[in-house]
Amino acid sequence: MTAVSRLVGRAVRALDTVESTQAVLARLAREGAPEGTVVTARHQTAGRGRRGQPWWDAPGQSLLVSVLLRPPILTAQAPQLSLVAGLAVADALGPGAGVAPRLRWPNDVLIDGRKVCGVLPEAVSSADGRVGHLLLGIGVNVDQSEFPDDLRDHATSLRLVTGVSHNQGRLLAGLLAALDRRYDEWLAGGFARLREEWRRLASTLGERVRIPDGREGVAVDVDDDGALLVDAGEGVLTRVVAGARVLAP
Ligand code: BTN
Repeated sequence: MTAVSRLVGRAVRALDTVESTQAVLARLAREGAPEGTVVTARHQTAGRGRRGQPWWDAPGQSLLVSVLLRPPILTAQAPQLSLVAGLAVADALGPGAGVAPRLRWPNDVLIDGRKVCGVLPEAVSSADGRVGHLLLGIGVNVDQSEFPDDLRDHATSLRLVTGVSHNQGRLLAGLLAALDRRYDEWLAGGFARLREEWRRLASTLGERVRIPDGREGVAVDVDDDGALLVDAGEGVLTRVVAGARVLAP
């Protein structure tokens, strides 16, 4: 473990091969690890993605990061951390890798329309409906020069975009510093404080989406709680907190 003064990354456990950094951090959280503890790995054998999907990596080519947070919020507010993390990833990758990331609601970071990073917030609730702790998982494709067939059309890496490989230690340091800053801003002012900046980087706004009840519409905005506001052509905007999917153009 190495220690630094700020919250996110105050203790970093850098591992080689694990099933999932989320699983390792869940155990550390149960054992009482402090907020801000980070687990990283060089490779995951059972990486977890959203909606129960696997998260693929090739050994040594990705940032695989889980961050332990203990925010004083209701469980219903936990998805906001996806948006906060996306913004932090964009903060870090822009200057860190010389790319122009965009944000796809709620949890993807894109470059040139392809996914370079996914975020997985897993909240453990207490009995009163509040978050006990939250495992914020972040996977960034850094050095892949190719992807498996099922990902090839949708995924990219910093290397594919820029043509060069990137120093993962520097990228991780930039990511943790950005996350520390954004988490602090969010604790102080909620998503409302970050909303304008998120909107400026959003790729989703203006795109057609399918919402969980099966209707389709156009994503027009995010509100102060990070919910997506969708115009499904019925004169009122539908507020979506999870499960909307951007449709292919
Ligand atoms: C997504 O499906 O977009 C979310 C992917 C999150 C992947 C990261 S990699 C580090 C952490 N450990 C996991 O098992 N998943 C997350």
